[in-house]
Amino acid sequence: MVGSTLQGPFLGQSFLLKEHNSPLFLSLQTRKPVRFPSQQIPRVSMETGGLDSNGREFKNADEMWREQIGDTSKKTEWYRQGVGYWEGVEASVDGVLGGFGNVNEADIRDSEAFLKILLSERLARGNSGQPLVALDCGSGIGRITKNLLIRYFNEVDLLEPVSHFLETARETLAPGIQTDPDIHKAVNFYCVPLQDFTPDTGRYDVIWIQWCIGHLTDDDFVSFFNRAKVGLKPGGLFVLKENIARSGFVVDNEDRSITRSDLYFKELFSRCGLHVYKTKDQKGFPGELFAVKMYALTTDAPKKVHRKRSKGHANRPGIIR
Ligand SMILES: C[S@@+](CC[C@H](N)C(=O)[O-])C[C@H]1O[C@@H](n2cnc3c(N)ncnc32)[C@H](O)[C@@H]1O
Repeated sequence: MVGSTLQGPFLGQSFLLKEHNSPLFLSLQTRKPVRFPSQQIPRVSMETGGLDSNGREFKNADEMWREQIGDTSKKTEWYRQGVGYWEGVEASVDGVLGGFGNVNEADIRDSEAFLKILLSERLARGNSGQPLVALDCGSGIGRITKNLLIRYFNEVDLLEPVSHFLETARETLAPGIQTDPDIHKAVNFYCVPLQDFTPDTGRYDVIWIQWCIGHLTDDDFVSFFNRAKVGLKPGGLFVLKENIARSGFVVDNEDRSITRSDLYFKELFSRCGLHVYKTKDQKGFPGELFAVKMYALTTDAPKKVHRKRSKGHANRPGIIR
């Protein structure tokens, strides 16, 4: 990877590739049962143990967060080092994909299939004439906007805290280079991190968050989604696409991020008051990479499907024979 050399099991490896080399990671990430320090099988995933990239074991997420961001100065450092890591990375597809530029095509293909379903089920506007608007969070160089979002949305805003990434996005997405700017255009380029961002009320049909939420602490995750909800139009949704740990969590001490398990995410969604509308697993990535999942999240609870009662049990007067 650009800006670092291979010095240990994790240094220099990508955010995608964290599963091998360390025996401790293997025990967590392979299908072998995970050994918990206590006798009890944890009830919820945040109580499940996890590891960091130095092989340190944590009993649960609370213990890990106390260690990582226990006081204000540690939390400031967590975010400073997270952004600092990406500031040292080349502004290219290979750079933002941690040396795995070759997964770009499969990533976009599966995202497109997922997005098409969401658009047809939730966002078909008929002839309302309202423009479709998306926000690309942690956009990096605008890879997802350029290859996907700008083809489906009339306007796309990008949010990215690393200025040389955002500048590259601005150049790539300059009016007329990709698409007809009267119909599809990148509009706003926000150079801020997610934890400091509040969207304009009711602007977005889709808020796309891919491979960046791991930089947020649990509390900032919850407050980000709570603030971002107001940015959704009625019927709008979040799409979160992320690496998934097999159990508990894995902390990367180099880029200051956390990879959470599916259960961990679901607990956070419930803290945010969000509902999982649909999920899909990414297919076709090299086997050594983390599993990747897409979640479509809504603020409205899924409608309960009431099964029609059969005629025989209909609640209506019957003739007594
Ligand atoms: C793995 S790259 C993914 C970029 C882009 N989403 C993509 O898939 O091409 C992670 C991105 O998250 C950004 N990032 C790091 N910390 C962040 C934060 N606190 N808020 C938002 N984005 C952050 C990085 O600068 C980087 O662009």
